[in-house]
Amino acid sequence: MVLKGLANLVVWLLCILIPTLLTDEAVILPAPLDLSVHSTNMKHILTWSPVTVPGETVNYSVEYQGEYERFYANSWIPSSWCSSISTPECNVTDDITATVAYNFRVKATFGNQSSAWSTLKELFNRNSTVLTSPRMKISKDGYHLIVEFEDMGPYFEFNVTYWKNSPNSQELYKIVREGGNLVHLETMEAGAEYCVKAQTIVEVIERSSAFNQGECIRAQDETPLLALVLFSSAGFILFLVGLPLFIWKMSQLLRYSCCPVVVLPDTLKITDSPQKLINCKKEEIESCDTIVRVMYPEELFHSWLQETL
Ligand SMILES: *[C@@H]1O[C@H](CO)[C@@H](O)[C@H](O)[C@H]1NC(C)=O
Ligand SMILES: *[C@@H]1O[C@H](CO)[C@@H](O)[C@H](O)[C@H]1NC(C)=O
Repeated sequence: MVLKGLANLVVWLLCILIPTLLTDEAVILPAPLDLSVHSTNMKHILTWSPVTVPGETVNYSVEYQGEYERFYANSWIPSSWCSSISTPECNVTDDITATVAYNFRVKATFGNQSSAWSTLKELFNRNSTVLTSPRMKISKDGYHLIVEFEDMGPYFEFNVTYWKNSPNSQELYKIVREGGNLVHLETMEAGAEYCVKAQTIVEVIERSSAFNQGECIRAQDETPLLALVLFSSAGFILFLVGLPLFIWKMSQLLRYSCCPVVVLPDTLKITDSPQKLINCKKEEIESCDTIVRVMYPEELFHSWLQETL
């Protein structure tokens, strides 16, 4: 009886003493509070209210649990980027790799003191992320309608709707698989206005954003092409008219100045041999003059016609 009473006393003493010995300084630091995950466009940030020790830096460690760890392994995994960090927030984007409910826990540490763990009040599923409508830039390259989306990361695709801004024109659709590239949508009709709007799609969470406001752009008018055609036909006509004129002008020039070294155009009929002309000296200008027979425009045009036809 006495022995049993003594044993009970020892057990009782141990029960009192062991926790006080173990706790020592361990639970002095308060646990972080108000854990929550802020998630926009599949980027997930865990935040909590900071634990303060005046004049000192408190560190935090973050761990997480997916469905497997919670139901089967009963374990926690340290967050990739947040062991012993000093800011009261953690980018957990890389930890969340499945569309299942995740739990997080955070503890504060200071020197060799450590707080209790705090957990989320409500589990986090990435399918609750806020999806914003996509930012895009539309442009034209000649008559090509081009669109470019901002690169929002690997999960993002863009559902594009575009149409010619005129009555009865129908909407067209295209899925753009990733941002950061120029994508050709359509070859535009000259002078017509085209409009584009888009929404993001994230297949892994089976959700999509609202459509953005949309943007319109007008294709250039036909004028440059028309002008080119007009310009080149005008050029051709000028050439046809100008060639005989040019030849006539040359003949006029040669009528008053004898410059034998100039190679004469074929159309100038030369009564004597060219050799004789070349030998023509300054003193012989008078005689030289007679050698060159000048053709008058009508005559020239007539012979030119005969030659070409
Ligand atoms: C969080 O991490 C992701 C992936 O590493 C990164 O794309 C994103 O920019 C980070 N966000 C912030 C706010 O640091
Ligand atoms: C996210 O997924 C859970 C579990 O599959 C589902 O119950 C919930 O309705 C989904 N939430 C959204 C916003 O899709």
